[in-house]
Amino acid sequence: MAVGCDHAGRDHKELFMQHIEAMGYKVLDMGVAPDVERANYPEVAIKVARLIQAGEAKFGILICGTGVGMAMVANRFRGVRAANCPTELVAVMARGHNDANILTLGQRTIGPRLALSILDAFLSTNFEGGRHQERINLFEGIYGTEKL
Ligand code: RB5
Repeated sequence: MAVGCDHAGRDHKELFMQHIEAMGYKVLDMGVAPDVERANYPEVAIKVARLIQAGEAKFGILICGTGVGMAMVANRFRGVRAANCPTELVAVMARGHNDANILTLGQRTIGPRLALSILDAFLSTNFEGGRHQERINLFEGIYGTEKL
C-alpha cells in the first residue's frame, strides 16, 4: 500500500501507517516526513499515483488538509480512481461501486478516530463488478493523449 501526505496530513499518515502495518500490509511511504513543515501536495500525489499505475501498489492513501487537492491530482492518471471519502459510507460506496484504488482524506476536516474508521471501511470493501464495471468502462477510456 502506497501512502503520502503533505504538511497538513502528517499526523494522520503516521497513524495510518501504524494501523496498516499492524494489519500486515507492506507500506510504501512516499512522504512527507513528520518534520517537513511545508510540502506541495501534487508532488506527493503524483508519486503515489505512479505506483498504482505501475502495479507496485494495489491501493493508495493520500492525506492533505481536505483530501481535495490530492484527489484532483491523482485522478489525472490513467487507471487511478481516487475518492475523497469524508464518511465510512462514502468509502464503502467508493470501493463497492467505483472500484476506487486511492483513498484521499482531509486531516483538517476529519478527526483521527473517524479517519481510521473510514480507512477500515475502504480496505474491507470489495468491488462489486457487474454493472459498476460497465459504468467505469464508460469513462476509463476517454482520457486521450492528455492523460498522464
Ligand atoms: C495546504 O495548506 C492545503 O492547501 C492542502 O493540504 C490541501 O488541503 C489541498 O487540497
